[in-house]
Amino acid sequence: MTAREMLPGIFEVGAIDWDRRLFDELIPLPQGTSYNSYLIRGSEKTLLIDTVDPPFARTLLDHLDSLGVKTIDYVVANHAEQDHSGTLGTLLARYPMARVVTNAKCRDMLKDLLLIPDDRFQVIQDREKLSLGDRTVEFLFAPWVHWPETMLTYLHGDGVLFSCDLFGSHYATSVLFTDEDPVVYEAAKRYYAEIMMPFRSSIREHLQTIAPLEIRIIAPSHGPVYRKPAFILSAYRDWVSDRVENRVVIPYVSMHGSTAAMVRCLVDALVARKIPVQPFNLTATDTGELAKALVDAATLVVATPTTLFSPHPKAMYAVYLVNLLRPKIRWVTVIGSYGWGGKTLQMIKENLPHLKAEFLEPVMVKGFPKAEDLAALDRLADAIAERHRGLGSLGGGGP
Ligand code: FEO
Repeated sequence: MTAREMLPGIFEVGAIDWDRRLFDELIPLPQGTSYNSYLIRGSEKTLLIDTVDPPFARTLLDHLDSLGVKTIDYVVANHAEQDHSGTLGTLLARYPMARVVTNAKCRDMLKDLLLIPDDRFQVIQDREKLSLGDRTVEFLFAPWVHWPETMLTYLHGDGVLFSCDLFGSHYATSVLFTDEDPVVYEAAKRYYAEIMMPFRSSIREHLQTIAPLEIRIIAPSHGPVYRKPAFILSAYRDWVSDRVENRVVIPYVSMHGSTAAMVRCLVDALVARKIPVQPFNLTATDTGELAKALVDAATLVVATPTTLFSPHPKAMYAVYLVNLLRPKIRWVTVIGSYGWGGKTLQMIKENLPHLKAEFLEPVMVKGFPKAEDLAALDRLADAIAERHRGLGSLGGGGP
């Protein structure tokens, strides 16, 4: 790829990582990702916003060379995580006059994580402005996008919000701008689910902070740039709202078919009641898709056999993940088969302390489900239908 001009004098100079398939050794990246870095040329100063993941240092430097960049005055660090900051050391060595512009918390983290010397920093305050001559940027602190030090950079005049992870997507594409692409919507929703869902209330505040700004372009640090910001802003307003939609998510695992038979019965019962349902077989599930399904679903049903005396480990992994991600689901329960007792139900309940959800009557069955067990699943579907009454689907900024 080459450096791409976003507006006159503003370039995307980062890297597209087509091949990456795992982030944080945890999050699957079926569509790769990108590490966006933006160069802004003012009449007096040149500024770079964020860098790239260290393996792509050469790409960033080549892009800067291709534009004939001899001097960089400022490197804005919107976020200390290494996929954006990891090339700072290389960049500072190449451009010895450059100063790292960031807030005090981010500076401290960059000193800890990357051993950047203290004298390379220029610490700014919330809402502070920095002049580049004919252009001015303003910094807006946005703690807990998912780390505590994150900030946004707003370019006055051009109306560009450089939002770092916020509004981003793990989506490798050669297309710089997106308008209202359903593929980008799904990728951004998945990214929100994996990274930001636990910080929903903080994100809601950040949306209020940026509401008065005249934003013509949102340029995140992953994925394409939004030329129609209303598209992603509307989607985010939906995702961070308290609204849930008429949908049930069922992560499940089954060793010998009994729990799977229960899942099939419950799925049929829910469909008969016009309740959309998403079963996820945990032996093959992409956890990013499970996380995305949890963004606005109303009910979670964990389906697991009892393995020895406990939930199946794959079910416990899903429960642990759900608890970390703190989705806004309102109702939760457990179904599953056991052979001789155990603490499955108790363990699942104890491991969901972050959920603010009503626990519905579980259906735990000894052995293969019999007629009375299927009837209990039917009653569970009734209970879910009663609680879902009045819920619709969320349209939002989606396709
Ligand atoms: Fe893309 Fe939080 O780093």
